Amino acid sequence: MSTHARDDPTTAQGWDAHAADYARLFSPLTGHIARSMVCMVQGRLPLAPRMLDIACGPGDLAVAAANVCAAQGAGSVLATDISSGMVALTERALAPLSAYAQAEVRDGQALNLEKGSFDAAFSCFGIFLFPDRLAAWRAAAACLRPGGFLVTSVWREPEHNELARVQIEPLMAALPARLTDPPPRPGWAELMTAEGLVEEVTAAAPVADAEIHVVDATLALPTPDAMWRGMVGNPLSGALIARCASNERDAVERAVLEAFERRSGGPDRPLLINASCHVLIARRAG
Ligand SMILES: C[S@@+](CC[C@H](N)C(=O)[O-])C[C@H]1O[C@@H](n2cnc3c(N)ncnc32)[C@H](O)[C@@H]1O
Repeated sequence: MSTHARDDPTTAQGWDAHAADYARLFSPLTGHIARSMVCMVQGRLPLAPRMLDIACGPGDLAVAAANVCAAQGAGSVLATDISSGMVALTERALAPLSAYAQAEVRDGQALNLEKGSFDAAFSCFGIFLFPDRLAAWRAAAACLRPGGFLVTSVWREPEHNELARVQIEPLMAALPARLTDPPPRPGWAELMTAEGLVEEVTAAAPVADAEIHVVDATLALPTPDAMWRGMVGNPLSGALIARCASNERDAVERAVLEAFERRSGGPDRPLLINASCHVLIARRAG
């Protein structure tokens, strides 16, 4: 596995630890959206396309992109992520398509790739989480040839996205007041609307002709407990839960699980939650 990452051990280690659970629990949802993102631009790509996946996670988007190349017998995919655990999962997923794709550890905020060399740069639920998103939008656009596609997905605001409500509301209600006053606001809150996403990306990077598409899908988890474990392991929600004292944490777990179990119909029942995201497609200007 080759590595071209700046030193960012906190982020990388958090995602390394969560990689296997993320792949098992959330890839069925995000993988569907990743494949949809490739579908939405593949008819507009040149023959033998060169594609980049930024924050590839377990590799669903890279596999879909590599399948586009395999169908033509030409083209290539470079999948990148800051987490070596995620890159290892992607390498495994790409093994049957290794003639068309490779995976590398890279920080998406400082890609250091050849400028103007890709026909499409994708980031499925990746860049919106980065501390320096503006650098990442610029780095992604810099890799694109003029007319190349920047394609990214971001979860929609809670009123349009049941997943955000079902996860956040019981957690906020159960956390001690000192952690929710003022209510924690995700760093990407302003990207949850179509207007906010278009405004930030087009201001940060030389891209134009932005389109927004709504993609809906259902997350299916085997049990309410699987959802709770996924939230604890996720570097973002997990960091909030980790700020509880141990007695507080037990109470939060009980309250959140009860809310999930009311929804699923019991502790051994599957938890199904609808999710909705925006997919932005923009083209590298001049
Ligand atoms: C929510 S997951 C999305 C993964 C995958 N694209 C998907 O849709 O399933 C976020 C990913 O961003 C990666 N990531 C976080 N910070 C990063 C950075 N600075 N550069 C590259 N990848 C990063 C994490 O390792 C993780 O794989």
